[in-house]
Amino acid sequence: MKNGIQLCIFSILILVACSKRQDFTALSEPTQILYDAQLGPFYHGVASGDPLADRVIIWTRVTPEKQLTKIDVTWEVATDANFQSIYTSDTTSTGPHKDYTVKIDVSGLKPDQVYYYRFKAFEKYSVIGRTKTLSVTEPQTVQFAVVSCSNWEFGHFNAYAAIAKQPVDAVIHLGDYIYEYQKGGYGDTTLNRKHIPEREIVSLQDYRTRYAQYHLDKGLQEARKMHPFICIWDDHEVANNVYKAGAQNHQSEEGDFEERKNAAIKAYYEWLPIRESKQHYRAFRFGNLVDLYMLDERLEGRTKPADSLKDPILLATTQTMLGKEQLSWLKQNLANSKAVWKIIGNQVIFAEINQAEVFPKAPKNLDSWDGYPLEQKELRDFIAQTPIPNTFFVTGDTHASWAIEIKDDKKKTIAMELGTTSISSSNWNEYESDSIVLLKEKQLMKQNPHIVYGNARDHGFLKVSVNNAQLSAEWIYVRTNKEINDETILGQQLLFDKMMK
Ligand SMILES: [Fe+2]
Repeated sequence: MKNGIQLCIFSILILVACSKRQDFTALSEPTQILYDAQLGPFYHGVASGDPLADRVIIWTRVTPEKQLTKIDVTWEVATDANFQSIYTSDTTSTGPHKDYTVKIDVSGLKPDQVYYYRFKAFEKYSVIGRTKTLSVTEPQTVQFAVVSCSNWEFGHFNAYAAIAKQPVDAVIHLGDYIYEYQKGGYGDTTLNRKHIPEREIVSLQDYRTRYAQYHLDKGLQEARKMHPFICIWDDHEVANNVYKAGAQNHQSEEGDFEERKNAAIKAYYEWLPIRESKQHYRAFRFGNLVDLYMLDERLEGRTKPADSLKDPILLATTQTMLGKEQLSWLKQNLANSKAVWKIIGNQVIFAEINQAEVFPKAPKNLDSWDGYPLEQKELRDFIAQTPIPNTFFVTGDTHASWAIEIKDDKKKTIAMELGTTSISSSNWNEYESDSIVLLKEKQLMKQNPHIVYGNARDHGFLKVSVNNAQLSAEWIYVRTNKEINDETILGQQLLFDKMMK
């Protein structure tokens, strides 16, 4: 018995020693060279996302000076930017199990209302974020900034900084929020914006560090502070050309693919203001004006792409982009929608594109919907035959801007596809001269007369504004991303009148 007590005391002493050692180990992070000391401990800013009529996610990350197992964080949501009128507040905690990120699903909010929020930890306040809930009636207008493909190494995120100044209701992010490549693997290393960690990211800690780095860009911090984000992932949040069971850029010597995928998903959900549920695909209703459907075209139901147009797998019924469950969810939602405009958040190009003249080695892009032609046709026929008028696909992935008519079998336009360019990932003219790229744009449009606008030379974002009668698409371009400068120019605007059913 005596021995037992002695053992117990000894164990307690070890526990105290261990916990002390754990509590007071300095937290040293590879991205700390990029910290703005004034923002500490909220170096990565604040964000909001997945707004609904009565709730929104608010987010921050607390970076302690030393490793701590638990940090208490207070959050406040107010109806004014001075926090004179605090609507709701509470205290939560975070720790290393979620990389010190904080995510609150604030409920009980009023529809169509601007709210301000902030966090407090270690007696310091974060910057103040602004967010907005969705309407339940018919708003006069709804405006989105639509973005994709932000690569740290290719340049400053000036397009995000420009979006912060836009009067939009939400930012729709179509993926490639980060890139998995090693330093110089895909980027412009002359800008001295080099990937951290330097290796290709594979482990949970690697993905977390890469997210930490990207969130130290001032432009991204500004956009997240000002508007709610609605995000879906594309491939580079895991690895290039990922599908449910593998990826082009995953080799067996990099470890187990499922483990890597799960690490990537965990870090993504830690760092992005997303409401977590079983499926990544989800819907948002902006009153009676817009129904927005965010699809998961990578990890939910995508099968391995065909190797070539001759690969028999291309036309197999087992070849899916969305998978049976997600496709029927989308069809059911589209058919039941009462909204004027139906917007589909889509990672890769939906329209059929013949690119044989421009890219003779890849006459079709088999990573896009052209690689999944049966499901592509099924969704297209469904929109045509139901019919679902005023359907717009908004699409990322190509690092170029597009407006493309989606045609039925009788060549009647039944929907539109609006492609947003990249925030910073290489345009085509970062490998070839402007004159060659202009020629290629012309060739592609000549071979595909359903492409009504194309530009593969500029970075920026797509602004989509709707009212009860019209949808406006504006392609807004930054002057540069090689230095910090948020000036923009309007590259193109197209107007689409509402079609009656
Ligand atoms: Fe991309």
